[in-house]
Amino acid sequence: MDKIKITIITVAVSLAAFGQGNTTKQETVKYEGLANTPPMGWNSWNTFETQIDEKLVKETADYMVTSGMKEAGYSYIVLDDGWMAKERDANGDLVADPIKFPSGMKALVEYVHAKGLKFGLYNCAGTKTCAGYPGTRGFEYQDARFYASLDIDFLKYDWCNTEGINAKEAYTTMSNALKTAGKPILFNMCEWGDNEPWKWGKPIANSWRISGDIYPCYECEFSHGTWSSWGFFKIAEMRKDIRQFSGPDHWNDFDMLEVGNGMTYHEDKSHFALWCLLASPLIAGNDLRKMTLQTQQILTNKELIAINQDVLGIQGFKYSEADGIAVWVKPLQNGDWAISFFNKSSTLKEVNFNWNQNPIKDNIFNLSTSFEDTKYTIRDVWNGKELKTTATIFKAKINSHDVITLRLTKMKK
Ligand code: GLA
Repeated sequence: MDKIKITIITVAVSLAAFGQGNTTKQETVKYEGLANTPPMGWNSWNTFETQIDEKLVKETADYMVTSGMKEAGYSYIVLDDGWMAKERDANGDLVADPIKFPSGMKALVEYVHAKGLKFGLYNCAGTKTCAGYPGTRGFEYQDARFYASLDIDFLKYDWCNTEGINAKEAYTTMSNALKTAGKPILFNMCEWGDNEPWKWGKPIANSWRISGDIYPCYECEFSHGTWSSWGFFKIAEMRKDIRQFSGPDHWNDFDMLEVGNGMTYHEDKSHFALWCLLASPLIAGNDLRKMTLQTQQILTNKELIAINQDVLGIQGFKYSEADGIAVWVKPLQNGDWAISFFNKSSTLKEVNFNWNQNPIKDNIFNLSTSFEDTKYTIRDVWNGKELKTTATIFKAKINSHDVITLRLTKMKK
């Protein structure tokens, strides 16, 4: 057989495998390397829903810089549902709502870019978005070209009004469309975990939501009738067992943050610590223009963010829960560990953690430590203080719904 024939056969075989949705070896479609650590930014939905406009975006971008959030690592400003006009134009192109965005979307993207930040938009794989604006179904390549022409950097792609379509195929089509349009755009799938996207999302997307929407409460279920939103601890518990599917450039997304959206200071700290330990994207969902100093300090805590952004990119795990105290752990680079004690009860609790009796083993990522052999220094990352070492029992009081987060670093022998 000559060379040309062999090439044709190889191409045909690989196309056939791809077309059948072969799960053993999937072609990488997405733009790679856009999210080597969990994406950080801000999204309009949790606070503003569809009440968004260009003044809000500009002010948020300004605050992102002046509040220290940009410096702490936040870069994306993402407009969620509600940015579009109700209809496409005569060419079938999406149109930004001319009342909310009188200067046009392109000018807004330029404004945000000029601040050294990145810009994101939202749409849906269905016929309409969840809030009833034009969906992308049937317009995938056209919409991808539109986003590329706007020079955006991030697309959140939702899953409302998708009756009869296959999630993996729909998301693959959009990922292909983005790639073909030629502008690197981080692709964030948002189908709420319904079709286990962690099992097939890696070649397609840089991150994917793994649950229904978050609600600003500790561990409540908030019913909307046919669907529910979830307190942050509920989401973490729901998806603690899919950690092997998350990692650099393919993150389990635990949803936008509710820090600063009505929970207590202690609950906000716990929520942020948990998202850092889970290596979730950190997408603030509060009104940056009105945030309190406490909220700002939580969101910009550099030592917590370093745990989230750790280069190993390992989603942490639940170590234990007893007498109202839950312990979660995350392996970090250079043999460090992050460990958080959460007081889930309604009363003050005392922690007595005897390191020697609590070896840590991460069976999924094959990492472990026995504190008898190796001693660690302990840093309290909420207070920026060195504590005693793991040679002595760790004792501390924790308020109801508060958290203590420690970073352990191996001592030199
Ligand atoms: C879904 C998503 C939310 C938000 C809304 C917008 O519920 O899960 O994060 O994007 O749609 O309508």
